[in-house]
Amino acid sequence: MKIALGADHGAYELKEAIAKHLEEKGIEYTDFGCFSKESVDYPKFAYLAATAVSKGECDYGIICCTTGLGVSMAANKVKGVRAAVCTNNHLAEMTRRHNNANVICMGQGQVTQESAFEMVDIFLSTEFEGGRHQRRVDLLTDIENGKEL
Ligand code: RB5
Repeated sequence: MKIALGADHGAYELKEAIAKHLEEKGIEYTDFGCFSKESVDYPKFAYLAATAVSKGECDYGIICCTTGLGVSMAANKVKGVRAAVCTNNHLAEMTRRHNNANVICMGQGQVTQESAFEMVDIFLSTEFEGGRHQRRVDLLTDIENGKEL
């Protein structure tokens, strides 16, 4: 399993901590930046990490900003990406089980590092349920492809 990591300056520290957490668990990742606390624009880093997922170069993305909101908006504009902002373990589990999310977004200002590590672990280990949820995820793809529902 390979992870695409990305963050803006507002979540630089959280990204660094998550990178260390992944290393401790022996999970491979590519860090798409940013690489300091200097102010940057979140869409670029969300785009880089989300695109790696979209292209199949990474299996999942973990993308963070201060709130988690801006990066999720940017990531969801990349084809094939289903990004979900998560603030607790239940959301991290359900967005895998029901939405087949392939990117988790978190806000450094919203969650503790410990809580983020737990959400990452749950997100990466929970399977998509398929069944009726596959039909709904397929409808998301239809929207993405400009189909009328
Ligand atoms: C940066 O100040 C902040 O706007 C960004 O980290 C993010 O929260 C945007 O949604």
